Amino acid sequence: MSGAGHELGRLNHVGVATPSIDRSIALYRDLLGATKIGEPFDLPPQKVRVCFVDLPNSQIELLEPLGEDSPVAKFLEKNPAGGQHHVCFEVPDIHAAAAEMTAKGAKVLGEPRIGAHGTLVIFLHPKGTGGVLVELMERPKDAH
Ligand code: CO
Repeated sequence: MSGAGHELGRLNHVGVATPSIDRSIALYRDLLGATKIGEPFDLPPQKVRVCFVDLPNSQIELLEPLGEDSPVAKFLEKNPAGGQHHVCFEVPDIHAAAAEMTAKGAKVLGEPRIGAHGTLVIFLHPKGTGGVLVELMERPKDAH
């Protein structure tokens, strides 16, 4: 592969789809031992309910569908128990990243929009990324 115009940043989070955020919170807390779990909140533009589990080096983003037309509802039809949904990497500039991904032949799904961290995100269709749904997220200005 030739060099990228931008440099891929840190893994911000792994998205995990679940039919029940409450049950997943219990699992991460009681089975896996997570101690820093945020309050779940609704993200209507993406039709998901979200909860972040903080880890020392990253986060798990628990995603429960908000409505039957949620993309996560479709995922759960194929994976009723839930499962790994996407990985999210930080980039310095989301519009530059979207233009570069498109120029390189990846399929960017929709326009940049506000993600669960309050910064702009895009998603790349898994057909162009080795079967992995990739989220790129503009790095928060006050982070790291
Ligand atoms: Co995400």
